Amino acid sequence: MSIRFDASSGLFTLETARTTYAMQVDDRSHLLHLYYGRRIGQGDLSALYPAADHGFSPDYYASRHTRGLSSPDVMPQEYTGCNTGDFRLCCLAVRDEAGALGAEFIYDSHRVEKGKYALEGLPAAHDEEDEAETLVILLKDPVSGLELELLYSVFARQDIITRAARLRNAGTGSLRLEKVASVCLDLPFGQWDVIHFHGRHAMERQMQRNPLANSIQTISSTRGSSSHHHNPFVILCDHQANEDTGLCYGVMPVYSGSFRTDIELDQTGLARLVTGIHDQNFNWLLEPGAVFTAPEVLLCCSGQGLGELSRCYHRFIRHNICRGEHRFARRPVLINNWEATYFQFNTDSICRIARQAAELGVEMLVLDDGWFGKRDDDNSGLGDWFVNEKKLPGGLSPLIEQVNALGMKFGIWVEPEMVSEDSDLYRAHPDWAFTLPGRDPAMGRNQLVLDLGRDEVVDYLVERLSTLLRENHIEYVKWDMNRNMSDVYSRVLPPERQGEATHRYMLGVYRLLETLTSAFPHVLFEGCAGGGGRFDAGMLAYFPQIWCSDDSDAIERLVIQHGTSFGYPVSTMGAHVSACPNHQTGRTTPLWTRAVVAMSGTFGYELDLGKLTDEEKEQVRAQIQVFKQHYDLIQDGRYYRLTNPTTDHRFTAWQFVSDTESLVNLVLTHPEANARPLHIQLRGLEEDALYRVDSLCVYGSASTPEIAGVKGHTKGEGAVYSGSTLLYAGLTLPHLVGDYPSVQLHLTRLEG
Ligand code: DGJ
Repeated sequence: MSIRFDASSGLFTLETARTTYAMQVDDRSHLLHLYYGRRIGQGDLSALYPAADHGFSPDYYASRHTRGLSSPDVMPQEYTGCNTGDFRLCCLAVRDEAGALGAEFIYDSHRVEKGKYALEGLPAAHDEEDEAETLVILLKDPVSGLELELLYSVFARQDIITRAARLRNAGTGSLRLEKVASVCLDLPFGQWDVIHFHGRHAMERQMQRNPLANSIQTISSTRGSSSHHHNPFVILCDHQANEDTGLCYGVMPVYSGSFRTDIELDQTGLARLVTGIHDQNFNWLLEPGAVFTAPEVLLCCSGQGLGELSRCYHRFIRHNICRGEHRFARRPVLINNWEATYFQFNTDSICRIARQAAELGVEMLVLDDGWFGKRDDDNSGLGDWFVNEKKLPGGLSPLIEQVNALGMKFGIWVEPEMVSEDSDLYRAHPDWAFTLPGRDPAMGRNQLVLDLGRDEVVDYLVERLSTLLRENHIEYVKWDMNRNMSDVYSRVLPPERQGEATHRYMLGVYRLLETLTSAFPHVLFEGCAGGGGRFDAGMLAYFPQIWCSDDSDAIERLVIQHGTSFGYPVSTMGAHVSACPNHQTGRTTPLWTRAVVAMSGTFGYELDLGKLTDEEKEQVRAQIQVFKQHYDLIQDGRYYRLTNPTTDHRFTAWQFVSDTESLVNLVLTHPEANARPLHIQLRGLEEDALYRVDSLCVYGSASTPEIAGVKGHTKGEGAVYSGSTLLYAGLTLPHLVGDYPSVQLHLTRLEG
């Protein structure tokens, strides 16, 4: 039993293997949050919050004579009302027909169920191993008739608690929701840092850590997607927390649209985090009887630092967010033609790429943008999902047959949510795109966003894409999305519902994805939004992998993949080896180093293999072998960050550990004159076990031929160390010089 209720005290206790989450119905029937943190068993938590009078913090009406018993403005709340005495961040803004803004929720009842709740129309975690138990608490606002269901599923073994909120108008008048959060998390005590992952196109998810100050910090996106700029995953951790120790909380929305997370440090030292759909340009008309569901959020608490928090999320996302046959299946090593050809290709040039790739051991060819409609650049053709026969005479089939004959799978790129003005689809249905009446729309990549809140638009796309997938032997789809949403105005919604358009769009995207991924379960779908502009747990419910970034420079990727690793497992990170000088940064890195970085992801190539020398081709062949050899360890192993590339500028290192082996990766990012020893301490090993160095490969650059080589220069192989030596004394690696050499070190745990 992971959920308990003590009727005499009104105390709810949710327990996971290492954490406790506690709430209490107080004597006025308000639901207070008492505790979330390391497991504590049964304590009298109400003693934590003695009654006290705080100036300018109002009393409940019933306590107006006694004063200061417990102000709504200082008590930790489980989910706030609005405009009724709590001046801190609120979860909800609801207005009735008279224009009155207000809600105050009173506990009504609760139920506990086996299994995991589902959310109508929204992605959510699923239960896999009969692990989850669900608590639904019903609260009511007696004045407006608004009912609030707070949903909690406890995944006890994994230390994850999922939460969501459902609102129902049980009154007789319509209500206008102007803000609906999914979760409020009050942490009454502690000294917190906020870690979040900011960025921009082609430089996503850069980790930033700041102390929480006496103010409100907002992390948000108003772009209609979770965005390159601020990933929705946020961590609150103790000032002292590091990779191995300290208290950390993760908050991960399972949502891919505009979101807002605010964190406030209040007058009493309480930290309040409120997260949900962004309230800018949002409102929702809730007619009597109607229901609105706020997206799910995955909460995790680790008492053992950031590393453990990440590993909890990694496992949970792989098992309980990702779905379908591909989440655990071996993903094919692919070649993508984008950076090799951009829009200039035909059947012959693609077949040439495929032949070269097949010879080197690549398993799938992905045909990127430009195969459809009138699409010779990015100004036209989106929406016309019919093959461009000028480039591909006879359609896709002749090409796919040749690719398949080489023993390779075939994958294709689409961008279904968009339309070009210069397209047959737009000429036929200009009203299907978001544009504001009487205004020229802002253009992103010269394209517009389709109003996927409209059923007929989603139905059209289901039909088009289903036909494409039915008529061609396509085994992988890369689903792109290359602009953010502006000029949001739906031609079919009445004026009072225009504030619903952005969220209705997301519901349409989810319906489209649900329909296609269920109808084509054998197709591997990869997400993409100009790289990692929609890298979130909502998308991962449909796409087991997402293209991490349009920046394929190996050194920048170290930072991007490091930031991504805090919330998301390597099995979700699309990563490719591309050409040098790199197309985004102009930097040259060793081919092996590019592979070491890309193989800590789903691994593929994105360059013209025909331009490689014979020696480089041999390297590619060897890289694919190395990746395949370590595949299970990389994908299923436990992930350890050994350095932080945002602060450690000399080298970046990371490690995979299973019960029987470990793989250590290191890239030198800044060579030194008169260099200090290259020393690292490993993580995740058993202190008392013995580990043998099976291979130590040093991959150099052309400028440092003495450490270059296909198989790598080996030193120290066969050496045996105790786990404690590697953990605490560490290892000194061979001296590295030149531009961006790398090291891979494989350890086998010895029996006994
Ligand atoms: C953006 C993607 O991130 C790229 O990989 C590529 O598919 C282009 N779009 C194609 O337009």
